[in-house]
Amino acid sequence: MTKPDDAGAAGPRELLLVGVGTMGRPYLAAAARMGLRVRAVESGAAWDSRPVELAERFYRVRGHGEEAWAETVARAVAERHPDGLIGFAEPQVVAAALAQDRSGLPGPSLHAAVISRNKALQRALFGAHGLPQPDYLHVGRIAEARDWMTERLPVVVKPLTLSGSEGVELVGDADGVQEILARRASENGLLVEEAVQGSEYSWEALVQGGEVVFENVTRKETTQPPHFVELAHHCGHLFDSEAAGQVRAVTRGVLRAVGMRTGLVHLEFRMADRGPVLIEIAVRTPGDYLPDAISLTYGFDLYEAVVRLSLGQTVPVLPRHPVSWAATVFPTASPGTIRGITGVRETLEHPSVVRVRLRKGPGDTVRPLTSSAQRMGHVLIDAASPAEREDAVKFVRETLRVAVTGGG
Ligand SMILES: Nc1ncnc2c1ncn2[C@@H]1O[C@H](COP(=O)(O)OP(=O)(O)O)[C@@H](O)[C@H]1O
Ligand SMILES: [Mg+2]
Repeated sequence: MTKPDDAGAAGPRELLLVGVGTMGRPYLAAAARMGLRVRAVESGAAWDSRPVELAERFYRVRGHGEEAWAETVARAVAERHPDGLIGFAEPQVVAAALAQDRSGLPGPSLHAAVISRNKALQRALFGAHGLPQPDYLHVGRIAEARDWMTERLPVVVKPLTLSGSEGVELVGDADGVQEILARRASENGLLVEEAVQGSEYSWEALVQGGEVVFENVTRKETTQPPHFVELAHHCGHLFDSEAAGQVRAVTRGVLRAVGMRTGLVHLEFRMADRGPVLIEIAVRTPGDYLPDAISLTYGFDLYEAVVRLSLGQTVPVLPRHPVSWAATVFPTASPGTIRGITGVRETLEHPSVVRVRLRKGPGDTVRPLTSSAQRMGHVLIDAASPAEREDAVKFVRETLRVAVTGGG
């Protein structure tokens, strides 16, 4: 999959990447390997650290929200039509889909993109298609959900359009209802859902023209309630045949419901007694360096495959089974000021550790872990067997230590 792209009479083909940051860079690297021309759209916040060497032109997003992304994408496309366009993360999904739709470029579809951005629209659509999901209530203000919540405790309260578990919390009892009614009284538009019991998984798939051409299941570890911050992702999870069949049926049902056409899909569910119960879907690149872990697990470059899909190329037959066992692990510390971090060298020397990337160091503040944004970095693991992977995860947790003072 690394041979240069066919140049053709019109010269090399061109990719427009919308949103790069840190985790989107491998798309640019893949495009360079494929011999593509590349332009990219980037936010003001990430502008100074944009990888200028990886694209011939960057367009800077000015202004607020998805509209600003859409405006900049429209400008870039009007200047020159790309052959493929990828929207990287949540704020870029709709901007990218608008341009894909307008220009006839492969993409998830405008319908799928809009649904992906709004958890209440997802619930409504899943319900209409009879897909398994928690009972839910969409309210303008939390006070309207008082009786509904009280009758169904425990429940989960969440905003419609955020991500990374921001604003997502479990309410376990009547006191919790009182407390959240006061604390989140002024928030506009919330979903309240029955709390689904069962282990959490995600499903990542490459889809072309509505057909699944690659799929992976990831097992999650999250913090305990009330918040659900992701602490580890174990790729290449294998269900027994009954559960695998249920996952197959539910995932295909979701793709049909949202009208997914082409691209990368990330879907979250919990495995309850009755089978998989849907949490949410996103038609974009999953976060938490999952594509890196998936690429290692199956032995191919997921980013490159996404670029090929975006250009409308046929992808080669992709692996169906893990050839390795990768995970991403997010070290934690109690709240306070970091005094020191020890064990980085020993962690790096472990044969199954691929990299250690820490965003925080001595003097930095650790806040209570209420969303993904508060985590302090990640470790990428790749092991020869599931058992060795578990050993490596345990080793990292025991070895990489963060000393903190002044917590509370
Ligand atoms: N109805 C629910 N029942 C149980 N856990 C839930 C429910 N909704 C969300 N969660 C937990 O909270 C996490 C974050 O919620 P999610 O809807 O995925 O929002 P986000 O967009 O922030 O990821 C989920 O990954 C899951 O662990
Ligand atoms: Mg989620």
